[in-house]
Amino acid sequence: MENSLSIELVRVTEAAALGAARWMGRGRKEEADSAATQAMREVFNTIPMKGTVVIGEGEMDEAPMLYIGEKLGTGYGDRLDVAVDPLEGTNIVAAGIWNALTVLAVADHGNLLHAPDMYMKKIAVGPESVGKIDINAPVIDNLRAVAKAKNKDVEDIVVAILDRDRHQETIQEIRVAGSRIKLIPDGDVAVAINTAFEHTGIDIMLGSGGAPEGVLAAVALKCLGGEFQGTLWPQTPEEVIRCREMGIKDVNRVLRMEDIVKGEDAFFAATGVTDGELLKGVQYNGENATTHSVVMRAKSGTVRFIEGKHSLNKKNNLVTIY
Ligand code: FBP
Repeated sequence: MENSLSIELVRVTEAAALGAARWMGRGRKEEADSAATQAMREVFNTIPMKGTVVIGEGEMDEAPMLYIGEKLGTGYGDRLDVAVDPLEGTNIVAAGIWNALTVLAVADHGNLLHAPDMYMKKIAVGPESVGKIDINAPVIDNLRAVAKAKNKDVEDIVVAILDRDRHQETIQEIRVAGSRIKLIPDGDVAVAINTAFEHTGIDIMLGSGGAPEGVLAAVALKCLGGEFQGTLWPQTPEEVIRCREMGIKDVNRVLRMEDIVKGEDAFFAATGVTDGELLKGVQYNGENATTHSVVMRAKSGTVRFIEGKHSLNKKNNLVTIY
């Protein structure tokens, strides 16, 4: 994969964010999602690559979503696997709250897990805690391990977890351990990434969420030198069959970084739609709009934060890389 792919991929997430953010707080999540999807597809198709969506929004031929199997790019260039979540946090945008992102990941063909659209149990941490966590261990053990790795008290640790009834037991265990909790309404990709950035205040992400989102978070943490572990959590016999059809024979197996994203290289890009701990959301200022993105590459370990100034009459787009 070429270095220049970084900036091409940011153009995709920026365009999707510019489309979706118009719907902030307007209570219309489908419209926000479809604006992001449309913009994502349009810009992807200007990039010289032979991409295939392996993590998308729908099944084969389910247009207008970016569906699994859809071809992206100009058709010339590297053969790539593409994972997308055009709008991660549709309800968040509809309500105008925290941490909605447009997100994608890219790897060489065959290197991304084709995770089916079902639940996955997850644990994610930043670089200091790599090798210290175990998704099958009791919650308290993971909290102690992360606290020790970060040279903090267990009481100082902040756990991000989706605010769901299914998490009541885990939340109780965290409270008994004495750690602090950030209950999030949606958007577990953002908080998984945040574990790698001390200033976001999040030390560990726990709980179940979407498996596709798990793959995206794992790619980001691979680039950032963090760790992600997941276990698929099928809810019906049909979902068990789907896992098998997609090549996942043992559904209880712990999926580690190398199972989710193979090889040494992958790219990840995200742009803030609404404000978050890591990225600010889109700001419209009359003739211009400002976006905040992160793009990273696993092979080089490069992490770029990019502020884009976009002329809304499509002229003189200014992009600042810092
Ligand atoms: P959408 O962007 O599809 O709305 O998903 C948001 C999200 O909160 C993800 O971040 C998370 O992985 C998943 O939904 C959790 O699913 P559920 O709402 O069923 O608990």
